[in-house]
Amino acid sequence: MKVLVFGAGGQLGWELQRTCPPQVTPVFCDVPKVDFFSADSIVQCITATRPDCIINAAAYTAVDKAEQEPAAADRINHAAVREIAELCRRNSIFLTHISTDFVFSGRHFTPYKPEDTPDPETVYGKSKLAGEQAIVQTLDAFLIIRTAWLYSSHGSNFVKTMLRLMQEKPEIKVIDEQIGTPTWAYGLARAVWTALDKNIHGVFHWTDAGVASWYDFAVAIQEEGIRANLLENTIPVMPVASSQYPAPAKRPMYSVLDKSSFWHRLEKTPVHWRIQLRRMVKELPSCHPK
Ligand SMILES: NC(=O)c1ccc[n+]([C@@H]2O[C@H](COP(=O)([O-])OP(=O)(O)OC[C@H]3O[C@@H](n4cnc5c(N)ncnc54)[C@H](OP(=O)(O)O)[C@@H]3O)[C@@H](O)[C@H]2O)c1
Repeated sequence: MKVLVFGAGGQLGWELQRTCPPQVTPVFCDVPKVDFFSADSIVQCITATRPDCIINAAAYTAVDKAEQEPAAADRINHAAVREIAELCRRNSIFLTHISTDFVFSGRHFTPYKPEDTPDPETVYGKSKLAGEQAIVQTLDAFLIIRTAWLYSSHGSNFVKTMLRLMQEKPEIKVIDEQIGTPTWAYGLARAVWTALDKNIHGVFHWTDAGVASWYDFAVAIQEEGIRANLLENTIPVMPVASSQYPAPAKRPMYSVLDKSSFWHRLEKTPVHWRIQLRRMVKELPSCHPK
């Protein structure tokens, strides 16, 4: 099976590269080889590669910047996805697409199921939902996986930012009232390959198991940083309200996803986010995390 992966240089794309199974012939693509701002670039990449399957891990992921750049977010997360879906339809290519908890407002207080009605409140969330809808309207068979709170040893993310701040600051303040599930992109990448192998179609959710606030996550990152000798000393981590950190894009207060249907189809045992965090932190070089 020949698989074309978009967004190969991102967190998930990088994890897809190192977890790629031997039976797959992968073609990993990123900017400038493919640029989602150009419809021609997408056509050329797909027609030159002639894959059996595309995994779209590329996205405009700058949630706050998207509020000032709605056209760019819509182009990458929606219009380009529609063009990819159309090419998949015409060339009988199976499309696997990654989406986000931001398609929900976060006003629920029970885990969101894949079939719950999306109600995004941010430019980023609206653009990602429009991308999902373009796929559903264009293709009979596809796989959309919504995920949340991704981190990896590759790329920029909350874990690496916290470890850096914990080395630089006498104390840090972290929001304690937004709830979700920290998710190691490595586990998601493995789930994507398993789903392809099992020919799973539809809309599903994937995160690691368990729930946490950003504050809980930060406290755990400090503990793991000390354990892995990435940090020398503990500093106070103070819980604060979201109102103390106003951001251009409103964050969902509750973005726990119900993963049960996907876990069942994958026949995978969920791993708690705390265990995944320990595994990821062990991969970081013991010098200053970048
Ligand atoms: N990160 C999270 O917490 C999170 C949470 C929920 C869902 N997701 C979803 O999970 C997926 C993977 O996220 P991630 O964290 O791996 O994202 P990421 O690290 O930001 O990577 C995004 C990738 O998209 C590529 N890209 C950006 N603009 C592009 C363009 N114009 N043309 C082609 N490629 C372009 C980037 O290339 P460059 O690096 O060259 O710009 C990068 O390789 C995305 O669909 C995202 O929406 C992420």
